[in-house]
Amino acid sequence: MSDLEERTFIAIKPDGVQRGLIGEVIKRFEQKGFKLVGMKMLQASQELLHNHYADLSTKGFFPSLIAYMSSGPVVAMVWEGKGVVKTGRVMLGATNPADSAPGTIRGDYCIHVGKNVIHGSDSVESAEQEISLWFQPSELVSYKSCAFNWLYE
Ligand code: RTP
Ligand code: MG
Repeated sequence: MSDLEERTFIAIKPDGVQRGLIGEVIKRFEQKGFKLVGMKMLQASQELLHNHYADLSTKGFFPSLIAYMSSGPVVAMVWEGKGVVKTGRVMLGATNPADSAPGTIRGDYCIHVGKNVIHGSDSVESAEQEISLWFQPSELVSYKSCAFNWLYE
């Protein structure tokens, strides 16, 4: 797979949806030059969330994290492009909004780690795992056969 086809899983958490930040998040990734290859809105099941955050299951905040992530609909997305996993994390900002730089999504829109608006995969490997957990292959598009060159590349 070409490095231009790297993919990451981004989810706007229930507080981000409730606060009307869907368009703002999409705008930032679009204008940066990444390609949107999948998107859906859903109420995540307990099973899905337990799988998604399995590596945090022993943490004290795990029950409140699951309650938070089930508190309303989320917007699940897959974005593609060179370096999208790492750059996506930079665009999100640090996990704790107190440490997130201004100009990042968390730096600009939240103050509490328990309501930090957005999720982004932390490595290429976890991105692949998360994408397969949240999406069927048929729900993702490919730009390979498009009759145009992507302007940003
Ligand atoms: P995410 O997976 O949601 O993108 O966040 P992250 O990689 O930046 O941070 P991670 O360590 O994976 O934690 C997942 C989410 O759990 C909540 N959290 N709460 N109360 C706490 O100390 C605490 N620590 C983490 C946050 O919502 C965090 O994004
Ligand atoms: Mg994480």
